[in-house]
Amino acid sequence: MIRTPRTGRPPALRPVQHHVTHQPLPSDSPLLQPVTAGALRAANRVWLAPLTRNRADADGTPNDLSVEYYRQRAGAGVVITEGSQPSAVGQGYPNTAGVVTDANEAGWTRVADAVHAEGGTLVVQLMHAGRISHTGTIDGATPVSSTATPAQGEIFTTEGPQAHSAPRALATDELPGVAAEFADAARRAIRAGVDGVELHAANGYLLHQFLADGVNDRTDAYGGPAENRARFVVEVAKATADAVGADRVGIRLSPANPYNDITEDDVSVYETLVAQLADLGLAYVHLLAEADDPIVGKLRAVWPGVLVLNTGFAVDSDRDAVGRIVADGVADAVTVGRPFIANPDLVTRWTRGSELNEPDPSTFYGGGAEGYTDYPRLAG
Ligand SMILES: Cc1cc2nc3c(=O)[nH]c(=O)nc-3n(C[C@H](O)[C@H](O)[C@H](O)COP(=O)(O)O)c2cc1C
Repeated sequence: MIRTPRTGRPPALRPVQHHVTHQPLPSDSPLLQPVTAGALRAANRVWLAPLTRNRADADGTPNDLSVEYYRQRAGAGVVITEGSQPSAVGQGYPNTAGVVTDANEAGWTRVADAVHAEGGTLVVQLMHAGRISHTGTIDGATPVSSTATPAQGEIFTTEGPQAHSAPRALATDELPGVAAEFADAARRAIRAGVDGVELHAANGYLLHQFLADGVNDRTDAYGGPAENRARFVVEVAKATADAVGADRVGIRLSPANPYNDITEDDVSVYETLVAQLADLGLAYVHLLAEADDPIVGKLRAVWPGVLVLNTGFAVDSDRDAVGRIVADGVADAVTVGRPFIANPDLVTRWTRGSELNEPDPSTFYGGGAEGYTDYPRLAG
């Protein structure tokens, strides 16, 4: 998730311009073709982007509203959930979902059952926030990171925006334990009936804090050259793959993306990383980048598997634009965020060429059913 330093809220979101598309999609449209990513079967190429909505119970358990929200969006090729903490200290914001306790697991079972009953496929995004957190959100604990330097700016808390808490740099011998937390959370998710997990290594959270040369100031085997900065993410991916099978593990990356106080000049780390992920045989790589960013082709060259693209906040995820991405083979599938918030039946609307509801940014983060489960669906 993206937070501005000043307010802890998302950057000024450009209004999403959803050109009304009157032409129905032909049934042979590339967007509507099924695709298999490892063990994940997607009925189409329009996947739900991971979206933090801050409406889980205070203990991180997905609740009735979460079940309804994901059920409504099960028509996505794959439903990727909100970023969900794999450990208590990995929580970044109030009311995010977790995959930590038995209660959390039971909540995910209800979500998985609902999505499966609609014929959908469910992947839980595992998001360890690292230093993008506040002690008040994690019961007085100190956030952990690749560094002891706090992120600039503020983060949303139950007390309103506050400065990010100073993290402590994880000791080298603690890293296997953090990798094991990801693996345990993945085991829980799969036991709950979820189809797969996505490792959130993007947008400035813990795994990105290791990759980014402007944040990672370590002097051990996990800092310095690209090979070292990639090491922790590879180890997390390996531990998670060993726990649940590589074919149920995807990963999200956002090269050079400055969200959450990331500075990153040396993006060669992504080629180093993705080549090793290819050896592990993960289910998919989910890239946040504009379609014409040279990094997309570079990573395509070292990644033989399914590539999923999200074009980020600056580019509208409009039907015809994302359709071209898939038709041109830039990526095998796309994820769509804000249009899916406002249009639970987005795939049906895009297929028919129907008009779209506009998302309301004031209800993105926190609250109840309003702006979450009450966007109208097409009749019939
Ligand atoms: C409300 C909101 C919450 C988000 N939460 C997450 C998240 O938990 N994990 C993540 O990887 N990206 C998150 N993102 C980024 C989206 O996945 C996506 O990259 C972004 O919305 C741009 O795609 P769009 O133009 O289709 O909305 C969030 C975006 C929004 C608007």
